[in-house]
Amino acid sequence: MSRLKKQVQDKIEAWRPRTTRLLKEFGNTKLQEITIEQAIGGARNIKSLVTDISYLDPNEGIRFRGFTIPEVLEKLPKVPGGEMPYVEGFFFFLLTGDIPSTEDVKEVAEEFKKRSAVPKYVFDILKTMPKDSHPMVMLSTAILSMQRESEFVKEYNTGKLKKNDYWSPTYEDGLNLLAKLPEIAAFIYRLKYKDGKIIASDPNLDLGGNFAHMMGIAKPYDDVARMYFILHSDHESGNVSAHTGHLVSSALSDLYYSISAMVNGLAGPLHGLANQEVLAWIQGVYKQMDGKIPTEEEMKKFVRDTLQGGQVIPGFGHAVLRKTDPRYMAQREFCLKHLPKDPLFQYVDLLFKVVPPILLEQGKAKNPWPNVDAQSGVIQWYYGLKEYDFYTVLFAVGRALGVVANIIWDRGLGYPIERPKSVTTAMLEEVAGIKS
Ligand SMILES: CC(C)(COP(=O)(O)OP(=O)(O)OC[C@H]1O[C@@H](n2cnc3c(N)ncnc32)[C@H](O)[C@@H]1OP(=O)(O)O)[C@@H](O)C(=O)NCCC(=O)NCCS
Repeated sequence: MSRLKKQVQDKIEAWRPRTTRLLKEFGNTKLQEITIEQAIGGARNIKSLVTDISYLDPNEGIRFRGFTIPEVLEKLPKVPGGEMPYVEGFFFFLLTGDIPSTEDVKEVAEEFKKRSAVPKYVFDILKTMPKDSHPMVMLSTAILSMQRESEFVKEYNTGKLKKNDYWSPTYEDGLNLLAKLPEIAAFIYRLKYKDGKIIASDPNLDLGGNFAHMMGIAKPYDDVARMYFILHSDHESGNVSAHTGHLVSSALSDLYYSISAMVNGLAGPLHGLANQEVLAWIQGVYKQMDGKIPTEEEMKKFVRDTLQGGQVIPGFGHAVLRKTDPRYMAQREFCLKHLPKDPLFQYVDLLFKVVPPILLEQGKAKNPWPNVDAQSGVIQWYYGLKEYDFYTVLFAVGRALGVVANIIWDRGLGYPIERPKSVTTAMLEEVAGIKS
């Protein structure tokens, strides 16, 4: 057993009595009351999920394992010559809650390398898909096609796998899948947008560096990839992609089913696809302005026209956050350092100034501030990744890190199948005292 797996096992076993005690001794303790608005309104803020991997404070933003984004970026071991931490070390940190040593990172990186070979049939399937398939459909299909590789299914079907050990083959599936995702994503990109001219993986590089290499994009894109995967990894459990992964896995569907489903949830325009929509929206403005930077007044008009057309402003608002997303701020800082003069960045900066007051004045959005998606496409565009249909695939590779870590722990702590209760409209009317 690898040191990481042993560490995860020890942590899960030490943690399990806490969950068991809460359940057995305090199972009837009330957590909150639920309103009709919450029942109709997408279960907003109903506390019915448990995770220790990240926590989203509405006013502070995300903390991974108790650390803010600047702390994570500062504390984790960095790739030599780069500004950003190893993605492999970040995964170690998500799984264990401990800051890895350089030695730990090296071991996890080796572990990923050993598991990185993508079965040939995955590439064959991708090649037969219609040319206009969305890259998220291709990613989801590629992941689902590998379900036959599941170690969990093999062990479960022996009839000898004990519930407390479910996490162990799930861990194997998780690492096997994560190690392959960068090559699958880069393959989709090159197949779809670069005439199928595939660049072979370089086993000497770390995950982020190898991804940049297979995409065919020069430095510092390796650091951009690392930053992107880390920032998009986890946002506690209730968002659509994380929740979908957790929900599907709660039926003991294996990780391939769960992560493929996670990708499908992320593909919606109100969720991950918003980063593609932001770029499409900005490009529209760019064209109408003939490439010139709009004045504040001109930009306000574009924003108001979009709202009057019944559209949302992509990249702004959030279901939980009530301030500017720290993931937005981390990327903004990167832009201020590396691409301050870039015209698209100047557009985004102008939007940061003009959109919140307009959303406030409109009075509908509970959070007028930008989220992660408002900033991320600009960085990709600047480094030459201009095919914005692909952006959500990058988000998905990052998000898989967090969802895999969560599912391993879900299985370790024996979380049951998820099954919230539904009611009818007539029942709600009765509770409300409405007489028909
Ligand atoms: C993220 C999002 C889906 C959250 O949805 P939510 O929790 O229902 O948001 P709110 O409670 O603030 O929504 C209340 C109203 O404000 C509107 N609103 C929220 N964000 C808005 C935005 N960016 N532009 C215009 N209107 C917005 C909603 O559409 C809703 O209008 P309605 O009452 O007419 O249906 C929403 O803010 C949104 O659509 N943002 C744009 C897409 C985006 O950036 N998604 C990525 C999120 S990380």
